[in-house]
Amino acid sequence: MKQICVVGVGYVGLITAAGFADLGNRVMALDIMEEKIEGLKNGIMPIYEPGLEELVERNVKAGRLNFTTSYADALQNTEFVFIAVGTPSGVDGEADLQYVGAAARSIAENMQDYLIVINKSTVPVGTGDWVAGIIESHQPKPIPFSVVSCPEFLREGSAILDFQNPHRTVLGSLDREAANKVAQLHLSLRAPIVITDLRTAEMIKYASNAFLATKISFINEIANICEALGADVKEVAVGMGYDKRIGQAFLNAGLGYGGSCFPKDVLALAHMAREKGRHPQLLDAVMDINGDRRPMAVNRVKEMLDGSLKGKTIGMLGLAFKPNTDDMRDAPAIDIANALIAAGANVRAYDPVSMEVAAAILPSVEMCDDPYCVAENADALMINTEWNEFVHLDFPCIRDSMKTPVIFDGRNLYEPEDMKSLGFKYRGLGRGYNGSTTEEK
Ligand code: UDX
Repeated sequence: MKQICVVGVGYVGLITAAGFADLGNRVMALDIMEEKIEGLKNGIMPIYEPGLEELVERNVKAGRLNFTTSYADALQNTEFVFIAVGTPSGVDGEADLQYVGAAARSIAENMQDYLIVINKSTVPVGTGDWVAGIIESHQPKPIPFSVVSCPEFLREGSAILDFQNPHRTVLGSLDREAANKVAQLHLSLRAPIVITDLRTAEMIKYASNAFLATKISFINEIANICEALGADVKEVAVGMGYDKRIGQAFLNAGLGYGGSCFPKDVLALAHMAREKGRHPQLLDAVMDINGDRRPMAVNRVKEMLDGSLKGKTIGMLGLAFKPNTDDMRDAPAIDIANALIAAGANVRAYDPVSMEVAAAILPSVEMCDDPYCVAENADALMINTEWNEFVHLDFPCIRDSMKTPVIFDGRNLYEPEDMKSLGFKYRGLGRGYNGSTTEEK
């Protein structure tokens, strides 16, 4: 039985490795960072993802999943190598391909036999050809290989479920036979498989993420207009979403998209367009709207506190960019906390899992043990992340312990009427009709 090698044990790599092992394959997960591999060998996950520890443990025990830092070991008797390393944003918003390039070079130097090299990382259109060039030029002796693009569509927080229940598998290659072999690996996932050329597959990933980001900026713009016109964006989204051409998903108004993918991918797609002399008008607007969400949140809190943040204590519920993850990459809470502090406020926060990561990024923010400690004597509470555990808090207790009962709900987690009847001065986003009575308090 040939094995699969996955290069990179970040979100995408580790879930891909454990996911394929769980489907019965023998998988070698490789990373050049010794401490990550050592940790994994001892059952320590480098990231937080629900269900991951159990999945890894089960497959390690069954002997299907192993970890190494050695390309030479990992590529022995291997037919499929997934590249799943990071592609951060470079200085001009372009994707930084240094880790992909380094992985391709190491693969070239250590491969012994025919290999199918599969790009999982989100890479600019044309990277598949570039990777093929690197492998060709770094092989000590010519050994045949094929390059296939197989972009990931995993969401943090539900990445394992997404791996096991994909909406589709996209494969791109100039070598149809190689693409068909990779398709075989995915057959048991029972999702439609789209086989196309390399560049089109790479573009499908960017276009998908850019479309989802557009949906978010669209609903955020509608939220702004709803507020001005006295309509309720939550109900607008429900009413729109029943149209099958629109759908309910990704129509939650909020603090804008963050995380490791959307900000970077929309920027990279716009950069690719500009490099070729195109004007990515829509993508620019999507980023512009998203960029306004964080300062808007700070201004709202300021307005609710009668125009001044100086000396005020603001409690934040949620720091991670979204629930069920400890990921703080491009989390709106970072910019918001920094802006509040710059305006003279004291900031306290609680997040169910990201506080350790967040404390290093936000050293001036006081981390609290629970939402009630955040609320005590605070001038206002802000909801940054819609964690489930914030839905049913003891609000009378929170109200009584706050200095002033003010809530700015950046995720529309609560109903304006409920909050008003509990005695809070409450504002959500785009809740014009229901929210307006409280806004004018
Ligand atoms: C995303 C894509 O969904 C996934 O397919 C891709 O492979 C990686 O990028 P992820 O970044 O984990 O996944 O999170 P996602 O759940 O898509 O949310 C992204 C951001 O959009 C978050 O900041 C979230 O808060 C925001 N969002 C999402 C909204 O503001 N409103 C919504 O309705 C949905």
